[in-house]
Amino acid sequence: MNILISSSILSADFGFLSAELDRSIDAGCDLIHFDVMDGHFVPNLSYGVPVLKSLKKYSRLPMDVHLMITNPLEYIDKFADAGADIITFHAEANGNPEEIIEKIHSRGIKAGVSVKPKTPVSVIYPYLDKLDMVLVMTVEPGFGGQGFMYDMLPKIKELRNKLDSMGLATDIEVDGGITDSTAPLVKEAGANVLVSGSYLYKAENMAQNVKKLRG
Ligand code: DX5
Ligand code: ZN
Repeated sequence: MNILISSSILSADFGFLSAELDRSIDAGCDLIHFDVMDGHFVPNLSYGVPVLKSLKKYSRLPMDVHLMITNPLEYIDKFADAGADIITFHAEANGNPEEIIEKIHSRGIKAGVSVKPKTPVSVIYPYLDKLDMVLVMTVEPGFGGQGFMYDMLPKIKELRNKLDSMGLATDIEVDGGITDSTAPLVKEAGANVLVSGSYLYKAENMAQNVKKLRG
């Protein structure tokens, strides 16, 4: 499958956000990963609708919005209006997942669902055929710069096998601890959208690291 690199601007220098955005576009990233945290679903706060709206003006790349918030349904319209191209919410959040997916699709946006490390991927099987993407967290959500959880690899494999058995070519995104040493493992397991934050933004030469991830 075609490998896509989604750079997580959570690790960018927020004092120079549009320059950091340019740096990831110039480095050859495919998507911009935008982590929204509400201080409730995860023990951290990040940024939200107004920041997405501003960044969208300067981004030629699709905005890949990852909602780590308790009540996603209430915010779909706001993030859609602000320019989200993909919206991923968590299976563990409040609300009926099928209703949330429908709401996202009604705005002409791709819909993804994410599972935290302790959540079995089978919880999303009842509505798997309605999703454009599944995000398998490879760290506990909330912070950049954490170590990759190797025990998530069988989960990615299980999901790719399930999708294959259903004849679906749904994207599998992975998020957390993705570097040149973990990227080959997640790709081998069946992931095709790789989120990376600290490995890319802390790099002297981001383009080189994007190439290494793509492999
Ligand atoms: C964590 C976020 C990630 C984070 C990844 O909750 O969802 O997108 O920015 O950062 P790294 O690549 O540094 O693990
Ligand atoms: Zn994320």
